[in-house]
Amino acid sequence: MIYAKPITIKDNCWLASNVVVCGGVTIGEGCVIGAGSVVTRDIPPYSLAAGNPCRVIRKITEKDHMK
Ligand SMILES: CC(C)(COP(=O)(O)OP(=O)(O)OC[C@H]1O[C@@H](n2cnc3c(N)ncnc32)[C@H](O)[C@@H]1OP(=O)(O)O)[C@@H](O)C(=O)NCCC(=O)NCCS
Repeated sequence: MIYAKPITIKDNCWLASNVVVCGGVTIGEGCVIGAGSVVTRDIPPYSLAAGNPCRVIRKITEKDHMK
């Protein structure tokens, strides 16, 4: 049997090149996922996350806004 758990990507996320998102994962609002990442677990909102497995590197804050 073939099945697929739903993937949820909230608003205002940027997934860089060659990102893989595994089944059942939720990426919270306003996240940046680094190039080549494999997202195996949920990522909390406003996180910069990267790697395989993808882990939160830091929070995204007001200081990251570009004017
Ligand atoms: C996610 C990204 C924007 C982060 O850039 P940044 O804020 O300058 O982050 P830094 O380079 O300071 O890296 C911070 C840490 O995260 C790690 N990191 C950053 N991007 C990573 C990635 N894609 N995979 C794994 N680790 C990563 C760095 O090694 C560093 O770790 P350290 O503190 O142990 O040295 C950038 O790395 C990226 O992935 N850009 C993608 C560009 C792209 O895909 N462009 C084409 C499509 S538009």
